[in-house]
Amino acid sequence: MLDREKLTELAEAAVGARKFSYAPYSHFSVGAALLLASGEIVTGSNIENLSYPAGLCAERVAIFSAAAKGHRTFRAIAVSGGKEGREPDDFCLPCGMCLQVMTEFCSPDFEVDIVKNEKEIARYTLADLLPHAFTAEL
Ligand code: THU
Repeated sequence: MLDREKLTELAEAAVGARKFSYAPYSHFSVGAALLLASGEIVTGSNIENLSYPAGLCAERVAIFSAAAKGHRTFRAIAVSGGKEGREPDDFCLPCGMCLQVMTEFCSPDFEVDIVKNEKEIARYTLADLLPHAFTAEL
């Protein structure tokens, strides 16, 4: 589990990343902040498209962006999402596809922190959120 200081830093980065969300269709903005093994934080925001399925969630933008720079070991991710232009009124949990992508790189005890505001952060592990991931040997 992250200590309070690191959790706060990661939560703030996720909230900050919401500003860069491109969500002209859903008007639902999401920010994600991924903590790398090195201590560096890589952020992402949801980027939508007129062809709806072409858009991508904030979590996968952050994970793919880090992976595309060669990073493979991640410690935690913080996510904050809600209606554009205001503080989230609920906890925004990652979708199933984002959880499956986390499973590709992260262990079951990977920390997933859902940020409603600076005082309300729900802390989970990846195994809490996706206990039965697809892990077949191909
Ligand atoms: N979205 C995310 O970015 N992350 C989530 O965990 C759930 C949903 C985005 C996708 C879409 O741009 C918008 O939120 C509404 O579904």
